[in-house]
Amino acid sequence: MVTVVVAQKASSFPYAPLVLAAALNNPAVVKIEYKNISTLAEHNNAAIALSADGVTLTTVSAILRYIVRSHKNTLYGTDPASTSLIDDFIDKSQDIINTSDFKSLDVIFQQLNHHLTLRSYFVGYKVSVADIAIWGALKANAIFARQLKTGKDLGVYLARWFNHISAQAYVDVALNELAHANESTKVAKADQGSFDINLIDAEMGKVVTRFPPEPSGYLHIGHAKAALLNKYFADQYQGRLIVRFDDTNPTKEKLEYEHSIKEDLLLIGIDSSVVSYTSDYFDQIYQYALQLIKDGKAYCDDTSQEQMRAERMDGIASKCRDLSVEENLRRFDEMKNATEFGLSCCLRAKISVDNPNKALRDPVIYRCNLTPHARTGDKWKMYPLYDLACPIVDSLEGVTHALRTDEYHDRNPQYQWFLDNLGLRQVHIWEYSRLNFVYTLLSKRKLTWFVDQGRVYGWDDPRFPTVRGIRRRGLTMEALKTYILMQGASTNYITLEWDKLWAVNRKQIDPIAPRHTAIESLNKVKVSVAGADPYNFKEVPRHKKNEALGNKRTAYGPTIWLDQADAKGLEINEEITLMDWGNAFIRSVEKNSEGVVTAVQLELHLEGDFKKTKKKLTWLADGPELVKVELMDYDYLITKKKIEEEDNLMDFLTPVTEFKTEAIADGNVAELNKGDIIQFERKGFYIVDSVAEGDKPARLILIPDGKVASMASKAAPVSQTASKDSKKK
Ligand SMILES: *[C@@H]1O[C@H](CO)[C@@H](O)[C@H](O)[C@H]1NC(C)=O
Ligand SMILES: *[C@@H]1O[C@H](CO)[C@@H](O)[C@H](O)[C@H]1NC(C)=O
Ligand SMILES: *[C@@H]1O[C@H](CO)[C@@H](O)[C@H](O)[C@H]1NC(C)=O
Ligand SMILES: *[C@@H]1O[C@H](CO)[C@@H](O)[C@H](O)[C@H]1NC(C)=O
Repeated sequence: MVTVVVAQKASSFPYAPLVLAAALNNPAVVKIEYKNISTLAEHNNAAIALSADGVTLTTVSAILRYIVRSHKNTLYGTDPASTSLIDDFIDKSQDIINTSDFKSLDVIFQQLNHHLTLRSYFVGYKVSVADIAIWGALKANAIFARQLKTGKDLGVYLARWFNHISAQAYVDVALNELAHANESTKVAKADQGSFDINLIDAEMGKVVTRFPPEPSGYLHIGHAKAALLNKYFADQYQGRLIVRFDDTNPTKEKLEYEHSIKEDLLLIGIDSSVVSYTSDYFDQIYQYALQLIKDGKAYCDDTSQEQMRAERMDGIASKCRDLSVEENLRRFDEMKNATEFGLSCCLRAKISVDNPNKALRDPVIYRCNLTPHARTGDKWKMYPLYDLACPIVDSLEGVTHALRTDEYHDRNPQYQWFLDNLGLRQVHIWEYSRLNFVYTLLSKRKLTWFVDQGRVYGWDDPRFPTVRGIRRRGLTMEALKTYILMQGASTNYITLEWDKLWAVNRKQIDPIAPRHTAIESLNKVKVSVAGADPYNFKEVPRHKKNEALGNKRTAYGPTIWLDQADAKGLEINEEITLMDWGNAFIRSVEKNSEGVVTAVQLELHLEGDFKKTKKKLTWLADGPELVKVELMDYDYLITKKKIEEEDNLMDFLTPVTEFKTEAIADGNVAELNKGDIIQFERKGFYIVDSVAEGDKPARLILIPDGKVASMASKAAPVSQTASKDSKKK
């Protein structure tokens, strides 16, 4: 007897042991235990098996082997040779589970496909545990799922085999059991943080939080998280949120950014009609700096930047560290006057020379800058740095709780040092984890590069992680808010997949997105419908489950259009359903020499039962009201899930990130406005990016739906197509 414990929320779900258990169909041999968690903690694994004799197996391959070895079964081959081959494929399945980069995966897929060219099963003439192992690994693989769905780049033999195994009765049994287990545990989102956290010393009505963006770029989702969390806690305690522009660096800041940040904040429901500015406090900050100098806690350093950096790195004291208070005051005045000598200095807090926490090694707190300031003009020639300004202004403005991302963790003691040494009112620092997404850059410098290179349309490009970008891609701000609050204030450092965010979005738009129809223009198939009335219109609901959306005008007629992909699968005399119309029999299908369907004839059979047909097809009646549209889809800008500091960005640029499909759509689409979200039935949700203008068709962007397959990087299939083509030559 083996008990296999599976983590129900595992990101790479262990399907194979479940299917093997169902295939053996003997509860006395294998028992499956579902755990409502994402990994089995101490093993950090998706599945473990506990054998009768107390052995714990922690990889899927070991579990499969153990089960089939300990209970002699033909699934493990009938002779030593086939058993050895089966073992090789079990290893291969573990490779698939362990591999995440698609180049390597594609190599494996191609090998598997090649192996299946003349075979129905991996080993021998019937299903073995080799098939179950590989099937399970592929089933959980997002890249495979995408290839299977799109039919692109996947070898036909592998696809055929996969579908064949999927159709086995015991696979059904296993999946049903799993669905049941999922249902009964109400499996929650895997990366959901807990939000039942209280702030320290928080009193009802007295909590003040703040969101201090630097007006030097557009808001991205990371900022949105900071803003929304601060807002959440302010509301939670019936307190107040301060939006403060941290305008301490005139070189980087622009009024343009201030406006866009205000607009974006409004979009996520944060009122920024009243804002404050760090520059409002320049006089006070200056006084505090003088106080530090007088107390012997700050000094003016004219060491060159490189040398200062090296000294801080090595924990060596600056030659200026022990200057007298008088000399420091004189030098600070020169900085203020921007004299030649003054310009060579900066002010440093005298905290520590060699503290292991490098943020405490006499940080620079004032620096000269001759660029006029957007709000204070040329009054100041030196400006406080964020590290000094932030604790002072937080304290002066009455902030009780400063929420910061854990990126600032090392700088927290420094923040505290300023509060203590300046005798300021205490502020609680409260850390949360920075929002990181796979395949996503948030660095302003890197995003600017994409804009400057023309690789994107601008800061609101649908491929950008800016609030504007994701909104243009079809993310509702409600969904963004819900998602961020779901993440909570947890400090688990994780890089998130995009799928959960888009799944939350899908949930919000599905009930309210009107339904429309589009047919791809390329090789669209003209169909004549026998028994149809002449061209006419009927009113049908825009959304079958939401009457509030009203009706749309649908055209009917004796000539209709079908997608080539749909027409290809039609068989003579088959009964199908035309959506929003009724059943019909296929009477003829004409193909050209390349197998492209060129014409189809149908005969209406409206009394037919639509519940009995397998194919429900979308169609458009040919007529003058049809409109042309461009359907856009996008890929991640980079091909690596997480770009590390030492990575060269150039090595990971996705070659093609924009895909355009021309299509025709029902006439109602002409009435849509920019920003409207709809569903093209059987195609997906779309947001109107621009309406038709003259000869320019309306442009709609596919909204990711959060299904794992649609969230995989598309870059791989593109490059693989190229390599396959070159192989053929
Ligand atoms: C796959 O990963 C598991 C668990 O992380 C590890 O124990 C195993 O050695 C790896 N196997 C292969 C073939 O790389
Ligand atoms: C059950 O949950 C797992 C993990 O979230 C998921 O991968 C799987 O698709 C679900 N299965 C079914 C049949 O609902
Ligand atoms: C499963 O876990 C989620 C939280 O992760 C919880 O909300 C749910 O109640 C759990 N279900 C059961 C049956 O324990
Ligand atoms: C800075 O300028 C003020 C006003 O012009 C002047 O009184 C002061 O002496 C100057 N300080 C230094 C150190 O040059």
